[in-house]
Amino acid sequence: MSVYEAIRTRRDVRAEFTGEPIDDTTLWRILGAAHCAPSVGNSQPWDFVIIRNRATLRTFAAHVAERRRDFARSLPADRARTFAPIKIEGIEESGTGIVVVHDDARGGPQVLGRATVPETGLYSTILAVQNLWLAATAERVGVGWVSFYDEAFLTDLMDLPAGVRPVAWLCIGPVAEFQQAPDLERFGWRDRRPLHAAIHEERYTPAGREQ
Ligand SMILES: Cc1cc2nc3c(=O)[nH]c(=O)nc-3n(C[C@H](O)[C@H](O)[C@H](O)COP(=O)(O)O)c2cc1C
Repeated sequence: MSVYEAIRTRRDVRAEFTGEPIDDTTLWRILGAAHCAPSVGNSQPWDFVIIRNRATLRTFAAHVAERRRDFARSLPADRARTFAPIKIEGIEESGTGIVVVHDDARGGPQVLGRATVPETGLYSTILAVQNLWLAATAERVGVGWVSFYDEAFLTDLMDLPAGVRPVAWLCIGPVAEFQQAPDLERFGWRDRRPLHAAIHEERYTPAGREQ
């Protein structure tokens, strides 16, 4: 699969996991792609925690279900109706979770390129996530990003030491199919903006700014 095809067909997967767990060889190949990501000062501030324990998956899924309810309650009635049928995770169905964690101390105090933009460390870890997601797509393996959690809860669940932050829970596993369009478009939550709306020439044009 070409990189363009992987980018075009990648989906955030929630409902299409087959339930069959991903095999270790494929998983490690995908993690190898994540580990090839660029990083500020070559600091490689990421780590990956693989979770297959059913009880841990269930515990996290129960927490996410609570946060989903909180979000639903915060919505005005019309948005709550649109949100109701949208699935936001496949934690148990995927059979495998990967918690991507970020260690800002990696690389020591003088990380080349991070002095003026401290967030570049975090950006680097996020690039590892994108590599993982595209490599999985090329393998026809589904990935779904779950962010409906309290950071303290996940920190505790993963036994993370001080200074190591969870940045993503990724559900990963074989899928029956990839949807052609994002779920949030299919369910009428929000559409993708046209490319031209995101492009500015020479300087940022506030006239094009939308919510
Ligand atoms: C940082 C981040 C957090 C996300 N959190 C969630 C989430 O908690 N639940 C969910 O269903 N999708 C989540 N998504 C997936 C987005 O909803 C999805 O990428 C977007 O709707 C576009 O769909 P596509 O990825 O299929 O193109 C997240 C994506 C990103 C990048």
